[in-house]
Amino acid sequence: MKIAVLPGDGIGPEVTREAVAVLECLALPGLTLFEGDVGGAAYHRHGHPLPAETLDMARAADAVLFGAVGDPTCDTLERHLRPEQAILGLRKELGLFANLRPARVFAGLEHLSPLRADIAASLDMLIVRELTGDVYFGAKGQRVNADGEREGWDAMSYADHEVRRIAHVAFRAAAASGWKLTSVDKANVLETSQLWRDVVVEVAAEYPGVTLDHMYVDNAAMQVVSHPDRFGVVLTGNLFGDILSDLASAAVGSIGLLPSASLGERQTAHGTFGLYEPIHGSAPDIAGQGKANPMATILSAAMMLRHSFGREAEAARIEAAVSAALADGVLGGDLGGSHGTAAIGEAVRARL
Ligand code: IPM
Ligand code: MG
Repeated sequence: MKIAVLPGDGIGPEVTREAVAVLECLALPGLTLFEGDVGGAAYHRHGHPLPAETLDMARAADAVLFGAVGDPTCDTLERHLRPEQAILGLRKELGLFANLRPARVFAGLEHLSPLRADIAASLDMLIVRELTGDVYFGAKGQRVNADGEREGWDAMSYADHEVRRIAHVAFRAAAASGWKLTSVDKANVLETSQLWRDVVVEVAAEYPGVTLDHMYVDNAAMQVVSHPDRFGVVLTGNLFGDILSDLASAAVGSIGLLPSASLGERQTAHGTFGLYEPIHGSAPDIAGQGKANPMATILSAAMMLRHSFGREAEAARIEAAVSAALADGVLGGDLGGSHGTAAIGEAVRARL
């Protein structure tokens, strides 16, 4: 079980340390960890946010545990040298097109949500976000237009096969959970979305047991905070998924609680190769202060055990330990509590 650990920038190293300690605490036989540089940290050390050694290490592993990237001192660099390019490069190079972002309000923690408690209680969804296409990876640039004015442009596109394979991931998740599937697009305006919708309808024919509906992304944003019970599995593209997953996490109460898995097609000896990361960023404002909530990264490690190592029992143990810690009032600053990074990590390990 080879895991490449890429802590990255800001709070990345602090939260990753706690997740690694949780994995080590399970004393799984054959667990081997490698650590690599990524993001601004890698740029400062090697002159590139995603050095070749890091990419090779990720390729040689069965799974990647990723912290966060983002470093304000790199904001003025050329785009290809900015820390964010490291995570985008890893997703693309490793073929990780399927991003699973579960969002649910933990029982008893409805009061942490900015939503009314009865609405918050019904929030339990899985966002399946396409991760290697869309306007993120299209041609882009800046130019001077015919009027002599500066203009920025980014091309949005999806090919049939890109929509089809992510749709299958979402349909399988819906079939397995019994949840309905909502495909989110902007087909009333965008051709990319029209193709998306057409392909999703075609794939649906293979899953007669799954209830499918379609929703425009603006309506979906509204429904996430007004009627979250309308969602089970949400299938959407890269850009809309980026936005909706932050919205869903804010509705849960904190971005510090939500994990993610990014999967491709490659199978390893134990499961599907994947990259696991909290959905929060590097939070430079609190970096190095021992304040960050490591729960999202710890829960990402649980997803890793489930999807890449076939260790459902251990994954469920970690999730139960996090829920128990939360229920016992082990709350980080993001949740209005005063527990620090190390204390939260210890509290979770104590409940394993
Ligand atoms: C995320 C992040 C990334 C994204 C950034 C860091 C490039 O916001 O994982 O959601 O936009 O995908
Ligand atoms: Mg995001």
